[in-house]
Amino acid sequence: MQQRHFKTKDIYPNPVKIESLSHDGRGVTHIDGKAIFVEGALPNERVKISALKQTRQYDDAIVDEILEASSERVEPKCAAFGICGGCSLQHLQHENQILYKQQSLLDNFKKMAGVDPVTILEPIKSPAWRYRYKARLGVKYVKAKKKVYIGFREKHSRYLANMSECEVLDARIGKKLEVIADAVGQLTCYNKIAQIEVAFSETGCALVFRNLIELTDDDKSILTQLAKDNDYHVYLQPKGPKTVTLLYPEFSELSYSLPDYELKLVHLATDFTQVNPFINPLMIKLALSLLELNKNDNVLELFSGIGNVTLPIARSVNSVVAVEGEKSLVERANDNAQRNSISNVQYHVANLMEDTQGLPWLRDKQYNKILIDPPRSGAKEMIDTIAKLTPERIVYVSCNPATLARDTDVLVNTYQYKLAKAGVIDMFPHTAHVESIALFTR
Ligand SMILES: C[S@@+](CC[C@H](N)C(=O)[O-])C[C@H]1O[C@@H](n2cnc3c(N)ncnc32)[C@H](O)[C@@H]1O
Repeated sequence: MQQRHFKTKDIYPNPVKIESLSHDGRGVTHIDGKAIFVEGALPNERVKISALKQTRQYDDAIVDEILEASSERVEPKCAAFGICGGCSLQHLQHENQILYKQQSLLDNFKKMAGVDPVTILEPIKSPAWRYRYKARLGVKYVKAKKKVYIGFREKHSRYLANMSECEVLDARIGKKLEVIADAVGQLTCYNKIAQIEVAFSETGCALVFRNLIELTDDDKSILTQLAKDNDYHVYLQPKGPKTVTLLYPEFSELSYSLPDYELKLVHLATDFTQVNPFINPLMIKLALSLLELNKNDNVLELFSGIGNVTLPIARSVNSVVAVEGEKSLVERANDNAQRNSISNVQYHVANLMEDTQGLPWLRDKQYNKILIDPPRSGAKEMIDTIAKLTPERIVYVSCNPATLARDTDVLVNTYQYKLAKAGVIDMFPHTAHVESIALFTR
């Protein structure tokens, strides 16, 4: 597609009225029928705008001046808002963000599957700030300033946003970005740290430094001191995920508990774990209640990770078969089942984006309930198989309303499942990401 770049402000000589919010948090307006996506604008605002990019189908634009502000507009808390690519909704009241996300979910269902849920579930709400327990921070040495920066990438760019704090990250890191950047700046390989993966748990705050070259002993001492001063667990990762090794302290075990189910789950810093620990137990509780579990149930769970939902389910049913693509996560899931003395779970490794016909967990197996929690791409390759198992209930946890709605179309319009309930979960406040849950019944 041909794209042209403009700087001239006279492309839009007149102010525009914003009609709605796009799925990525931009205001939407139309000029002569053409959609304009306006960064920094909210529905019902009258704004002056200038173009960032024009295509034949749509324009990308940015707010120059707000002439009439929305009553939902608030002052963004973060100094890097508008530049940092991490958050795009901080200018919208937190309580209302989730309502826009709910609307986006319902619009997707309507547009792609032609359905409305019979019941819309109350949104599950999160604290607005310091909720984020997982992050991948970029590291960049800026020659001109002779300084190392860490943080998130700028919107539409490969540069790092200049930020001293991050308001959504847990304070143990969110308030310490400069301290960590200074430590990296003292290393002999100050420009050879590609990224830092961060994972918090109840038992520690882990930082995995992706070091592109071997660290000297002095470098290791600097990172050890950083760990001691801030109570961090510091790991090094010279190559792929299997090369992650602990630098300090001598022993590190990350874990979190789910007291409602008397569970403790152990995980590695690089494992998939849910980003928001305040929401996670609420999400599990809702998923289990939608499944209406009882002691006769035989449940299939797909995309099961380290057993975050599997093990709570196992507490109330006859059996669970859980399938996950990453072998190392399945190892952890098995270990977690053992540590918690759970014996009615069977784990399998399988790529659920490929043909699964004939795999042992599908052959001659009966499941009366199914839970799935796929990645953003959804469960396209599994959805027919799921429907053909004819479970009474399917609970679908999703981080992308577009793929959830696509898969809903198949369940509802090909296999006559009913979209009984659906709702949004405030897993990622201030970002445009939409987490949701849906219940399908026969
Ligand atoms: C959104 S997470 C959910 C994990 C788990 N339900 C939890 O709450 O921690 C999605 C999971 O799907 C797994 N996954 C991604 N692609 C996959 C594939 N092609 N086949 C099987 N599993 C896959 C990921 O490893 C991840 O564990």
